[in-house]
Amino acid sequence: MSYEYILVDPQFKTHIALVRLNRPKELNALNLQLMLEMKQALHDLDEDENVRCIIITGNEQAFAAGADIKQMESRTPIDLLKIDQFETWDQIRKTKKPIIAAVSGFALGGGCELAMTCDMIVASETAKFGQPEIKIGIMPGAGGTQRLTRAVGKALAMEMVLTGKFISAEEALRSGLINKVVPEEVYLDEAVKLAKEVCQMSPVATRLAKESVNKAFESGLQEGLFFERKNFYMCFSSNDQKEGMKAFVEKRIPDFKGN
Ligand code: HXC
Repeated sequence: MSYEYILVDPQFKTHIALVRLNRPKELNALNLQLMLEMKQALHDLDEDENVRCIIITGNEQAFAAGADIKQMESRTPIDLLKIDQFETWDQIRKTKKPIIAAVSGFALGGGCELAMTCDMIVASETAKFGQPEIKIGIMPGAGGTQRLTRAVGKALAMEMVLTGKFISAEEALRSGLINKVVPEEVYLDEAVKLAKEVCQMSPVATRLAKESVNKAFESGLQEGLFFERKNFYMCFSSNDQKEGMKAFVEKRIPDFKGN
């Protein structure tokens, strides 16, 4: 399937798909159609048996500079209610396969929120993260106040959300927002390296583990522990569990099939 605002390569590398935001002149501002395309692409990649990990990226200058301000400018609350764009975001969040954001340049507003919706973030040294909505008279709407606060803590989240200040990749790493910072020339290669590691694992266990870590953000401890335990038991119904443990005992590399 071809899209207008994203480029999708389901076979970028073995088992790794790449989704590239492709509105370079607008710094990859997230208009409604782009987000619908993203939802469709992630849905299709989730169904694709060959894909075990997905990388979302932009270009060197921008991952995404936020939701499209020009498209939002004249909206009323009722317009927003009818458009219901967050249904799209909710579907993206429900992607079962692991997603790595490879971020260079601006990751602002909805762009920062999209990166945080991913499971891990690899950034180039030039990346800048921020929730500058306050400067245009609004506030984050796609999970920014929740995910940023959980990731970096109240002090920095409050400062970023209330002043709109950007933080560098180094500061994002120090504060726990992202996984790695590397030179700009290799940020995508580094994301691929991380994706390759993920792809070597059992796809069944990976799915259950991702779901369980995410549960930590959505539930109290007791409910989270119960959920984790259920998924742990479920791992033992897979051939991958038998293969993984057998391979350990036989001192060889496991051959995971995803069943
Ligand atoms: C629409 C945008 C845009 C955006 C940049 N552009 N960001 N268009 N929506 N969010 C466009 C500019 O209008 C311009 O187009 C072109 O991209 C290049 O941008 P410049 O401003 O000329 O570049 P520069 O001077 O380098 O400044 C970069 C920047 C600045 C600091 C990133 O563009 C900026 O502040 N952008 C807005 C950031 C922001 O407020 N994001 C939050 C949006 S609200 P033209 O045609 O003029 O050349 C949000 C809410 C999410 O995200 C809610 C949930 C969905």
